[in-house]
Amino acid sequence: MAFDRILIVDDERIVRRALSTWLRKRNYQVGAAESLQDARDSLQQLAYDLIFLDERLPDGEGSEFLREIAQMPDAPMVVIMTGFGNADAAIQCMRSGAFDYLIKPFPNEQVDVVVKKAEDYRRVRQLTRFYSGADEQQQDSLLIGQSGGMKQVKDLIRRVAPTQATVLIHGESGTGKELIAKEIHRNSDRRDQPFIRVNCAAISETLIESEFFGHEKGAFTGADRRHAGRFELADGGTILLDEISEVSPALQAKLLRVLQEQEFERVGGTSTIHVDVRVIATTNRTLEKAVERGEFRQDLYYRLNVFPIYNPPLRERRDDIPLIARYFIELARRQHGVEVTGLSPEALQALLNHDWPGNVRELRNLIERAVIMTSGGGAIQPAALGLGSIAESEAAPDASHGNGAGPTVRSFASLAPENLPPLEEVEREHILTTLSAYQGNRTRAAERLGISLRTMRNKLRQYRDAGIPIPQ
Ligand SMILES: Nc1ncnc2c1ncn2[C@@H]1O[C@H](COP(=O)(O)OP(=O)(O)OP(=O)(O)O)[C@@H](O)[C@H]1O
Ligand SMILES: [Mg+2]
Repeated sequence: MAFDRILIVDDERIVRRALSTWLRKRNYQVGAAESLQDARDSLQQLAYDLIFLDERLPDGEGSEFLREIAQMPDAPMVVIMTGFGNADAAIQCMRSGAFDYLIKPFPNEQVDVVVKKAEDYRRVRQLTRFYSGADEQQQDSLLIGQSGGMKQVKDLIRRVAPTQATVLIHGESGTGKELIAKEIHRNSDRRDQPFIRVNCAAISETLIESEFFGHEKGAFTGADRRHAGRFELADGGTILLDEISEVSPALQAKLLRVLQEQEFERVGGTSTIHVDVRVIATTNRTLEKAVERGEFRQDLYYRLNVFPIYNPPLRERRDDIPLIARYFIELARRQHGVEVTGLSPEALQALLNHDWPGNVRELRNLIERAVIMTSGGGAIQPAALGLGSIAESEAAPDASHGNGAGPTVRSFASLAPENLPPLEEVEREHILTTLSAYQGNRTRAAERLGISLRTMRNKLRQYRDAGIPIPQ
């Protein structure tokens, strides 16, 4: 199923009832709201894919609400419902961003048509986004992962992005903290303004103040002209203070002032500069500990920690490994023009076994190398990954699993119970690997798997909707 959740907003009970009964029969999860305020509350609590919105509600007009929805990150699509004779309002709503409209009363079949159309539209949009190829920026903006931990992170991003709140992202190195910061910026109303990153650990103590706040001509030896600092460059947009724990006490005091007053002076300057900057900071050390040790100002810590986001290490969300690996294989395949069909079951198992001290960055590098190593074609084998755990997986006893158990089944036997993947995931891997092996030929892959072509198509549709690349 392409959409999960649909919200119905209508003040007429009979309309809500009829529509939700019909959509539930189609296996959608359905929410209902009888006013705009009610709808706002529902959207706060849950993410919806589609909204059926009455054009006129007791507390406002649909068109106003459309503008609100448009501001939301991952905004749901909207189908407007209007009474007969009010088609003009419907057209107006289409201009304000509604996907389609229905004139009441409408037969249920029309609901099916419009939902299907919306699902198709979203699928195409996602695909073009994923396959738009060279645009690294755009690809970078995709946070892959559907584990509980990742879902929580995405939910926090969705909530905090539209606000002005300062965000502190913490997590181990390589977990995707910078990516999260970019996602927040991209989903905020500052998205068209600058996103400026300062790596607090990489800049020398003597230069960092000028880097942050800029300097006037002649402020120090070598300052032969006025220079704008990163805070000035970020005016109107977002600044990312990467590895904030590395900032010296003197600078911490100045940062606190910028955070509180949004103002500062350039080095060697006297005039006060005002900026409008949203601050996001990252750290891979526990700042609380640094505070306890007296290395980091407590007041600055509180000021930064208004909205903390914890990004869990990859080993705590192993469910994401197959998805992220597949995504990086697709990227590397495009980048290097190498024909690789995917991961062999043994290679996947080696990835699942590994502890990933370098987190997603390590996975990305490892996959890129493995893809190049596999340039002869076929699936990535464990040897190409160069992981220590291969020895264990190859040593897995297989005699005890005589009985026609295939290689996939056998190779999972050596996994620790908590690493055993859900059936759905094994099925997905198996289907996609088979499809790759048949060069994307669905009929032949379905035959090989012993499933109908229809089942095959349905499965692939699900994967695609979940943003998983399908071998062509
Ligand atoms: N969920 C994800 N989906 C796709 N790519 C990811 C994901 N998480 C991280 N990456 C990729 O992994 C690499 C490392 O991510 P990033 O630089 O954001 O990590 P970091 O937490 O800032 O690390 P460090 O603390 O070392 O700066 C990047 O190439 C990023 O695009
Ligand atoms: Mg980083």
